[in-house]
Amino acid sequence: MSYTVGIVGATGAVGQEIRNVLETRDFPVERLRIFGSARSAGSTVATKYGDVTVELFDVAAAKQCDVVFLAVSGDFSLEHARHLTQGDDATVCIDNSSAFRYEADVPLVVPEINGAETKKSKLIANPNCTTAIALMALWPLHQLFGLKKVIMSTYQAASGAGQPGMDELTQGTQAYLNGEAVENNIFAHPLPFNVIPQIDKFQSNGYTKEEMKVTWETRKICGLPDDFPLSCTAVRIPTIRAHSESIVVETERPVDVAAARQALAQAPGVKLVDNTEQLEYPMPQTATGQYDVEVGRLRKSIVYGDYGLELFVCGDQLLRGAALNAVLVAEEMVTNGSLQAKKTA
Ligand SMILES: NC(=O)c1ccc[n+]([C@@H]2O[C@H](COP(=O)([O-])OP(=O)(O)OC[C@H]3O[C@@H](n4cnc5c(N)ncnc54)[C@H](OP(=O)(O)O)[C@@H]3O)[C@@H](O)[C@H]2O)c1
Repeated sequence: MSYTVGIVGATGAVGQEIRNVLETRDFPVERLRIFGSARSAGSTVATKYGDVTVELFDVAAAKQCDVVFLAVSGDFSLEHARHLTQGDDATVCIDNSSAFRYEADVPLVVPEINGAETKKSKLIANPNCTTAIALMALWPLHQLFGLKKVIMSTYQAASGAGQPGMDELTQGTQAYLNGEAVENNIFAHPLPFNVIPQIDKFQSNGYTKEEMKVTWETRKICGLPDDFPLSCTAVRIPTIRAHSESIVVETERPVDVAAARQALAQAPGVKLVDNTEQLEYPMPQTATGQYDVEVGRLRKSIVYGDYGLELFVCGDQLLRGAALNAVLVAEEMVTNGSLQAKKTA
């Protein structure tokens, strides 16, 4: 069976990667339709399935697809996603924004962890990129030792703010090197040669929304209690792509570093890069463009002793944290029968 697939926002950072992942993973695409705003409508995108003309987004037209990937803003998803997934002509919708991640009736899915949730709804939320990357390492460790507490610090690339974020970093870097003023419209401060300990808005508890997303989403995806202790400090750094994360876990059961290494080496979606003698560890430059999340710097924690592990994780957030996860969700729905080709499509 093959499907009519729609991508909304295919000219953006995530949308472009969704198209690439569909192509490289040979997702069974009968027809690809690309929707955008008036800015890109009418332009042509060269794809494996032939040249595709970008259509101005329209709910009725998008509902002719069997599955629609949304890679626009949260406000856009709030306005349109429920209309796409309701009614006799409802379509499956996989949303990359944060709009529905905390809604009880909308599964928040990392297929390697809770893929079966996709059977429950036509609207599926894709997790925050930082969360998805961390969970590739945290889930196998949870199975092995039981997570008790998690503390994370992140080093997040400019592309986390989409194509405009990448443009602001590259143009700002050129300006900085030319001795010119560096403009910042996307980031709170100039990013070139800087680090910014703020991603998204500050909340009343002093954490940012990005930081709280990691806490809220980890609990929901892993089925952990609502008060499971996980804290995050999210920092923007002047790299283009792939987020890095320093993670410290306290465990329920004593850790065995060799067993942790073995479990991570076998875990789906993980590439163990942990050979300090050869100076091999996860880095954005090696993780960029890779489906697997790099995990390394594994060591018993000198804070938590036998009940603690420290690690460093690096993953391509446009892939694992967005496009790849979204396509894996669709593949899971093909496998479990939740995604069907419409007779009229
Ligand atoms: N960047 C990341 O690392 C990342 C990771 C996980 C999740 N996300 C989420 O994924 C979503 C997309 O992020 P992004 O980084 O790809 O953003 P982006 O690079 O700024 O791209 C935004 C896309 O939205 C389209 N768009 C804007 N207004 C539209 C409208 N009214 N109708 C149809 N299309 C419209 C744009 O198309 P036009 O050119 O036609 O305007 C563009 O293709 C966001 O919700 C973001 O939070 C991003």
